[in-house]
Amino acid sequence: MKKILAFNGSPHTNGNTSLALKVVTDELNRNGVCTETIQLGGKYIRPCLGCRKCFELKNKSCIIKDDKINELILKMDKSDGFIIGSPVFTSNVTAAVKAFMDRTNFVAKANGFMFKGKIGAPIIVATKTGANFAYSAINFMFGISDMITVGSTYWNCAFGKMPGDIFNDKEGIEGFVRLGNNIAELLQKI
Ligand SMILES: Cc1cc2nc3c(=O)[nH]c(=O)nc-3n(C[C@H](O)[C@H](O)[C@H](O)COP(=O)(O)O)c2cc1C
Repeated sequence: MKKILAFNGSPHTNGNTSLALKVVTDELNRNGVCTETIQLGGKYIRPCLGCRKCFELKNKSCIIKDDKINELILKMDKSDGFIIGSPVFTSNVTAAVKAFMDRTNFVAKANGFMFKGKIGAPIIVATKTGANFAYSAINFMFGISDMITVGSTYWNCAFGKMPGDIFNDKEGIEGFVRLGNNIAELLQKI
């Protein structure tokens, strides 16, 4: 069975990002795709040290051992792709998402592009401004990781402030449903 990981970059486990991810994972599950949601926001994740040891050691892991990043790299390696969800924080992704992308992406690159051919999709929620920057930041990670990005009929963004508000953004939610279907369809083709 194909497996997609859904990363929640918000510190809120039941906030808008989590709800948005659930819309997509529900759709994937409905189409026979297995999913696992992983909380990033609010967790202890150290930023990349820029030491480039991963390129020296080439052992599919980061030298920082006191957080969950190495465990996540293994999970990502075994998966068929991942959705990275983030709320907009000061016009970009959250610090947790940034640290997660820097470290997983560098280890993957250092080890012969471990994420090659996997599916990637960003999901962004915002109150008002900055969704494009956050959306691009995640797509830029996929773009340098030899991955296949999936779109929808609108960019995978929805607007809302307090938890649940995104359900007032009908177009945004429709886009997430469509995204789930598109990922499932692509998984069948590759
Ligand atoms: C520290 C912080 C910074 C934020 N910066 C922005 C911003 O630049 N633009 C924006 O539209 N919303 C911003 N927001 C609002 C969140 O993106 C919005 O409330 C979102 O729905 C929260 O998603 P969540 O429930 O998954 O955490 C910010 C919220 C916080 C807490």
